[in-house]
Amino acid sequence: MKALILSGGKGTRLRPLTYTGAKQLVPVANKPILWYGIEGIVAAGITDIGIIISPETGIEVKNITGTGDRFGANITYILQEKPEGLAHAVKIAQPFLGDSPFVMYLGDNLIQNRLTPFLNRFKENHLDAVILLRQVENPTAFGVAVVDETGRVLNLIEKPKVPPSNLALVGVYFFDQTIHEAIAQIKPSARGELEITDAIQQLINTQRHVEACTLDGWWLDTGKKDDLLSANQIILDECIQPAIAGEVDSNSQIIGRVQIGSGTKLINSSVRGPVVIGENCHLEDCFVGPYSSVADEVTIIDAELEHSVILQGASITNVHQRIVDTLVGRRAKLTTTPHRPKALRFMLGDDSQVELT
Ligand code: DAU
Repeated sequence: MKALILSGGKGTRLRPLTYTGAKQLVPVANKPILWYGIEGIVAAGITDIGIIISPETGIEVKNITGTGDRFGANITYILQEKPEGLAHAVKIAQPFLGDSPFVMYLGDNLIQNRLTPFLNRFKENHLDAVILLRQVENPTAFGVAVVDETGRVLNLIEKPKVPPSNLALVGVYFFDQTIHEAIAQIKPSARGELEITDAIQQLINTQRHVEACTLDGWWLDTGKKDDLLSANQIILDECIQPAIAGEVDSNSQIIGRVQIGSGTKLINSSVRGPVVIGENCHLEDCFVGPYSSVADEVTIIDAELEHSVILQGASITNVHQRIVDTLVGRRAKLTTTPHRPKALRFMLGDDSQVELT
């Protein structure tokens, strides 16, 4: 059994956070989304992993993720010149996949469920494909399935204008080698992509065995700020164990589950978990409240924040109102004058959003 993770694409969905960066590398609780997928795959016993990358963001994905050693896996990177669809990615990965069955995992998806029960069903029932479904409120944004009362998949449609059900396709699929024949039969969709949804429909049309499993755990599509903040909250709630590697002075207080990376200094500050703070940060005269993730090399002086994600190298100084529900991009600077500001002065990049509440 092999795995194919799709980490190519245009990388423009999390604007302005990833105009240039890979959306799969946006951190949740200070860890790239992509890594959660890799860890889930390795936990299911699959260590031979191919990762689809794009010319624009591939180097970054490769440099950060490496050869697979840190996960106990062997990673092969596969360059997709253009984002011509999920099924196109499988097509170009064929030399890597050979005749092996495989799990296909979309690198921007985060799911709570372990993969093993689905993998077992796929293997034990000798299926050609297993898809995962979950009820959603906005099915037009996804691939949508119609299933009969026994759970058999009848029909799949990619991003329908009038959705026939509210069952969305989750970005995790199990396939045997028959998917390659199905992909060879399909044509690009109206949006010009070879759709995996159409390839699975082709399997169904040719009487292959396709079964659907329903996800009962959470599934996060981290495309927007609020999705990212809730993904961050859930992961911090479930995964953070206390670990303090940095320096905490005697005037500082740590309450609850808090992780602080090495080289980080906490001076006259309070941190109330669950919170994760990266390496080489400087935090002074500040409060960091629950459900916050602070990446490496961040400076926070004389400020209070909670339920927020602060990315690498950002700085927040002298902000005297509590910062909440906020996402601060890499190297962004947020500051006010030490006295109560009489005016507000901004330099905001394209598509930035500021709410003064
Ligand atoms: O998230 C689940 C949804 O993912 C499913 O419900 C849809 O049926 C499925 O088509 C897909 O829809 P999206 O429009 O959200 O896919 P997106 O273009 O965001 O690509 C998903 C991942 O695959 C992302 O990590 C980028 C990568 N990708 C995408 C394309 C089009 C590639 O590596 N190569 C590609 O050509």
